[in-house]
Formats: sequence, structure tokens, C-alpha cells
Amino acid sequence: MASSSSNIDLSGSVYCVVTGASQGIGRAIAIEVSKLLGPNSLLILLARNKQELSKTASLCETNNVKVVYESIDLTKATKTEMSDVLEKPLEGRKVVDFDIGLIFHNVGSLGNLSVETQRMENVEELRTYYDLNVFNVITLNTQFLKLFEEVEDRMIIVNITSLCAIKPMSGMAYYCSGKAAREMYFRVLAEEKKNIRVLNYSPGPVETSMIDYVLDEAVNDNLKDVFHTFKNQGTLLKPEVTAKKCMKVLLAGKFSPGEHVDYFDDE
Ligand SMILES: NC(=O)c1ccc[n+]([C@@H]2O[C@H](COP(=O)([O-])OP(=O)(O)OC[C@H]3O[C@@H](n4cnc5c(N)ncnc54)[C@H](OP(=O)(O)O)[C@@H]3O)[C@@H](O)[C@H]2O)c1
Repeated sequence: MASSSSNIDLSGSVYCVVTGASQGIGRAIAIEVSKLLGPNSLLILLARNKQELSKTASLCETNNVKVVYESIDLTKATKTEMSDVLEKPLEGRKVVDFDIGLIFHNVGSLGNLSVETQRMENVEELRTYYDLNVFNVITLNTQFLKLFEEVEDRMIIVNITSLCAIKPMSGMAYYCSGKAAREMYFRVLAEEKKNIRVLNYSPGPVETSMIDYVLDEAVNDNLKDVFHTFKNQGTLLKPEVTAKKCMKVLLAGKFSPGEHVDYFDDE
């Protein structure tokens, strides 16, 4: 891991957003980050399933943190809805009152695993996939950048990426291409804005509903084999294990701008 800058301190007042916080890695990230946030912090949890979001919220309650959650479909949300969802929980507080503005772009989906790569032609479906996984991640991030514009150097952005962003995986053309585009957007942003801390964190293979989706839906034999092996050999990580590692990487702050740091990278 390239070393560039200083530790990150989340023990002050932190404004923090986690997308895809209703289950899986997003829930675990929300729980782990909530333990680190200082007094007068605000944690905003986003996903569609309100009931599961409320469960995550109850797991994140601390004396320091006000937790709010909002059901939002990030495939369809407009930029106004996105900026509202970031601004309303402030309830009149100013962003300058926070020491840090932190966002975890964790939301993600796998796309259509039942179409062979050489037969991809449903542009409408592909576009919908990119809406959630790329275009609206960028749009939400832009609303976050606008919100913290006057205190730009307080911003920290974490994109939950994947090995699939940098290494092709048979049968996952939607996912790999989307993750690659999304990661590169954050790398470009990091290149331009050296005063904003940007991390691309790759969580490793994690036991979430995504794994079952691959086993149920994939038509590519290689892909099915890889995931069956993960499951049968018990090599899948628990969400809380990778979320803790993500916090460790973040707090150590040794990543270079936009660096892709994997769970399995040496420390
Ligand atoms: N699991 C792995 O092995 C693995 C490996 C590498 C990278 N990752 C990445 O880690 C991230 C989290 O994955 P996960 O395994 O935790 O997946 P997951 O269990 O399927 O969780 C996905 C989250 O995204 C939310 N979401 C999905 N569609 C949404 C929409 N239209 N609008 C708003 N929220 C939506 C889901 O909530 P609702 O359904 O409530 O909306 C859920 O909270 C993803 O970016 C994934 O690519 C995972």
C-alpha cells in the first residue's frame, strides 16, 4: 500500500452517509463507523428497505451519534431527491459545524448473470444497471461535494469497490465493467482534488446475499465454480470482519489518492 498522508481522526463531530445500509457490508460498515464517531455526529443510512434500515439504525445508536435513515431507490432518484436526502437530516445545522464529512458509496448490485457476455444487447437493462451502480453513485457524490464545498478539505470519500474492478471475472461483464467505471471516476476525482481523501476499498469475498445471488443466477460455469468453492471451503469473510478492516485502513490514512486497497493487501 502506498503511503501518502496522515491518520484520519473521526473522534470529532462527523457527518457520515452510508448507502446500501439495510444489510450486508453496508450494515456492517454503519455499525463499525458508528463506534468511532465523536459527539454531535450524524449518521445517515440509505437503501430501499425501511424495516431493515431501522434495524441497522438501532444497531448504530450511541450517545455521540444521531442516526437517521431514509428509504430511497438509488436507481431512480433524481439529483434533487439525493440532495434533499443529504440536507434534510441537518435540521438547520451547518456543514461547517462538522469536523469531517464522510460518505461510503457501498450500494451495489450484480446485474444480469444469466446472459452470456457475447449475447449482451439489452441496452435498457444495462442502462438501469449503470444508473444504480455508476451514474447515480456519481450524482450522489456530486451532491455530497456541493454540500461540503466550503470546507472541501474535511471531506472523506470511500467507494466500496471490488477485485472485479481491476481483474476480469468470467460471467460478470455487467458487474466488472460497472465497478471499473465507478472506481475510475473516484480515481480521477482524487487526482483533481488532492485535499479530499478518497479511498477505493475492496472488501474481499464476503458472505452476503450477493453470494447466493451468484449461485442462483449465474450461467457461466467458471463463475459458479469459483463461488461454490468460496462457499464450500468456508473462505467467505463475515461482513463485520471486512468492515473492521475498512475502518482500520481508513483511520491509518496511508492510502494514496483514490488508491484501490484490498482486504488481503499487506498492511
Ligand atoms: N459480497 C461480496 O463478496 C462483495 C465483494 C466485493 C465487493 N462487494 C461490494 O460491496 C457492496 C455491498 O455488497 P453486499 O455484498 O453487502 O450486497 P447486498 O447484501 O446485496 O447489499 C446491497 C445493498 O444495496 C442496497 N440497494 C440495492 N439496490 C438498491 C437501490 N436500487 N436503491 C438503494 N439501495 C439499493 C440494498 O438495500 P435495499 O435492497 O434495501 O435497497 C443493500 O443494502 C457492493 O458495492 C458490492 O459490489 C461485495
